[in-house]
Amino acid sequence: MARIALITGGTRGIGAAIARSLKASGCNAAAVYHGNAEKAEAFRRETGIPVFQWDVADFAACAAGLKSAEQYLGGPVEILVNNAGITRDALLHKMTPQQWSEVIATDLTSCFNMCRLSIGAMRERGFGRIINIASINGQKGQFGQTNYSAAKAGVLGFTKALALESAAKGITVNAVAPGYVATDMVAAVPREALARIEAQIPVGRLGQAGEIARLVQFLAADESGFITGATFSINGGQYMI
Ligand code: CAA
Repeated sequence: MARIALITGGTRGIGAAIARSLKASGCNAAAVYHGNAEKAEAFRRETGIPVFQWDVADFAACAAGLKSAEQYLGGPVEILVNNAGITRDALLHKMTPQQWSEVIATDLTSCFNMCRLSIGAMRERGFGRIINIASINGQKGQFGQTNYSAAKAGVLGFTKALALESAAKGITVNAVAPGYVATDMVAAVPREALARIEAQIPVGRLGQAGEIARLVQFLAADESGFITGATFSINGGQYMI
């Protein structure tokens, strides 16, 4: 039976590449989106991957959305990719409480929401793959991103704690920390700031979404059951730990 996979933020950028790649590997994959219905519909038409709309920052919306997605897919989610994320970049001395809390809610609390709602069925069945998409900026910090760096560093701690709780139940929980990848999010970085960043990437270019998806597909496989609690950096050599 095809494994059921759900990818949040799965209709654009890195998430869309992950959804395509999991589908190509034989999964019964679905994607969650929030704001951009037009792009989501185009993605659905092009890939045949079903899309569902809800706000991953909202626990009740996740509960209702997950229920309808699982009904459509024909069973509980076995592979969960928490990819949805936003930026609200500002220096801390200018950052509003809203810029802080929106990023924490969408980038970190979403992992709690989606995992909390999916983990019970994974535990009962003795199988699960959870892959949380973190960021290089949660590992090293980034000028202008106290909110995002805090959220993504939080994702790394969350991943390790949940990996410990889940290891004996056949569930692996890992984090992937991409560097700067050619997506809408990175395209929104001011040109000067992006030029400064690109100069720090030894590989000499931005990453491609498909280069992140390759690793996620590997971690999602049944055969990857001994890999858990790990953080994988994919950043073109920009930050080596
Ligand atoms: N290091 C040191 N100094 C820096 C700096 C840096 N990285 N970036 C800017 N500065 C300096 C500027 O030169 C400027 O100095 P002066 O006042 O002496 O001229 C000062 O800091 C203020 O800079 P700005 O005028 O740019 O300040 P701002 O308030 O208009 O904007 C900012 C600040 C929002 C942080 C803007 O610089 C920015 O957007 N930077 C990019 C942040 C970034 O990399 N975001 C990543 C988004 S992609 C992503 O997050 C995906 C992922 O996971 C990798």
